[in-house]
Amino acid sequence: MSRTVVCITGASGSIYGIRLVEELSRLGGVDLIVSSAGHRVIEEEVGRERFEKIRNLVTFHDEKDISSPLASGSTLCSYRGVVIAPCSMSTLGCIANGINYNLIHRVGEVALKERIKLILLVREMPYSLVHIENMLRVAKAGAVVMPASPGFYHKPKSMEDLINFVVGKVMDMLGIENDLYSRWKGL
Ligand SMILES: Cc1cc2nc3c(=O)[nH]c(=O)nc-3n(C[C@H](O)[C@H](O)[C@H](O)COP(=O)(O)O)c2cc1C
Repeated sequence: MSRTVVCITGASGSIYGIRLVEELSRLGGVDLIVSSAGHRVIEEEVGRERFEKIRNLVTFHDEKDISSPLASGSTLCSYRGVVIAPCSMSTLGCIANGINYNLIHRVGEVALKERIKLILLVREMPYSLVHIENMLRVAKAGAVVMPASPGFYHKPKSMEDLINFVVGKVMDMLGIENDLYSRWKGL
């Protein structure tokens, strides 16, 4: 089964990346990269305990390890895709402009050049024109920009329902069948 790269950056919503890893790890291998700001937000929003549980489910890469196999198209080309969830405006800006300060930026760049599916689950509110232009740039280069904004038509009853909606949409985009949320069946 193909592997997936999941990257967690320092935008709010690290639970989306964690929940995605929980699902993907049951379906094939996951390589995980967390930025240093990502670690800070995980501590703030989710807590270390849940993160340590998913660490055991993945192959973990240090964001500073620019010599990682993932930094090369010859490795990444066998992957199902790369998901950055959540994706900060800073990481978006780096990928949109071809700047590599860490392994996450490099993996994003490699995915674009190798035409590997790249999904950016962006999160900020409101967006500046710079953010919008960066989203346009990556979308033109082939990335899928998904806002971390759940729908409400499936009548969520809990935070878990909202999280699963967003994670289910990401899995749809990866081409993975899932029933994480109730689909719209018409009126
Ligand atoms: C609690 C917290 C929440 C944050 N939320 C966001 C956010 O929603 N979107 C965003 O772009 N940056 C957010 N930031 C700021 C980023 O963490 C910061 O820009 C950081 O440099 C991003 O680095 P990275 O892209 O390498 O993870 C947040 C920071 C903290 C501490």
